[in-house]
Amino acid sequence: MDLTYRPRRLRRSPAIRSMVREHSLNAADFIYPLFVHDGKDVQAISAMPGANRWSMDALIGEVERAWALGVRCVVLFPKVDEALKTEDGAECFNERGLIPRAIKAVKKEFPEMTVMTDVALDPYSSDGHDGIVSSSGIVLNDETIEFLCRQAVVQAQAGADLIGPSDMMDGRVGAIRESLDEEGFEHVGIISYTAKYSSAYYGPFRVALDSAPRADSQKPIPKDKSTYQMDPANAREAITEAQLDEQEGADILMVKPGLAYMDIIYRLRQESELPIAAYNVSGEYAMVKAAAERGWIDEKSVVLETLLSFKRAGADLILTYHACDAAHWLSKG
Ligand code: PBG
Repeated sequence: MDLTYRPRRLRRSPAIRSMVREHSLNAADFIYPLFVHDGKDVQAISAMPGANRWSMDALIGEVERAWALGVRCVVLFPKVDEALKTEDGAECFNERGLIPRAIKAVKKEFPEMTVMTDVALDPYSSDGHDGIVSSSGIVLNDETIEFLCRQAVVQAQAGADLIGPSDMMDGRVGAIRESLDEEGFEHVGIISYTAKYSSAYYGPFRVALDSAPRADSQKPIPKDKSTYQMDPANAREAITEAQLDEQEGADILMVKPGLAYMDIIYRLRQESELPIAAYNVSGEYAMVKAAAERGWIDEKSVVLETLLSFKRAGADLILTYHACDAAHWLSKG
């Protein structure tokens, strides 16, 4: 055949392929989510093989392992004792709470490790919502923001580097920025869950923290988070959220979940010059683990391909429960 262009010329050898490769994965791109609880034991999470609820001691061991593999950021999530949960979730700004203690412990042992936090009420709320639920079943926006600001300041006081509002209340990024600045934490960044969709892919995470919305006989509790998390049918709205977060002072924009929302990652990449993070969420992790356990897919290849595809879509950072495994495969093969 008389072909001018033969794209296969650049696929002939590993060396040529590596010369023209457009994207690559790096352990420093990963943010590793870790669950911590107040017990002495390490508890396995059934739908997330390999992830655990770590005790404080074991948490430090896991951070050490991550650091040695080249991971440079962890995000901490609390499994809060049932007795500490209230309707308003006020435990979220207890200075001696689980998360402030965990942040201090990690920063003491690994001062160079970037510590990110999650800001929302759901792990602390007896109603299982990210905001305060009124007696008529409305998730209150402005009242919730006051709590989120206090939560963010307490996390910053404990030594957090990046505050991650995951609650999807309107105006929370700006309010948190202002509170942090007032308290002298202008150096602490905000990685905003900008386009966070109301998704069934969070199922295993909610089991891990026992944080799903709950039925209550006293008041009508919304059974899902669709009055504040985004409708999966909407894409343009993600751009509006991104513009608001930028105006309000977000340093990094996040899209969540990741895999089913690659188009959103791509669109935000076109719309913003800020770094973009993708959250490869618990349900995505569970699906890969389940298929790999059955021998239906090759875990290593699927994980690395998936993580690379986030980079190709336009993400700079990837929150992933696969972080340590992937970092290991990248360095040792
Ligand atoms: C809390 C929060 C959730 C996740 C991260 N932060 C759950 C939710 O919004 O219901 C989900 C993470 C995952 O599924 O891996 N607001």
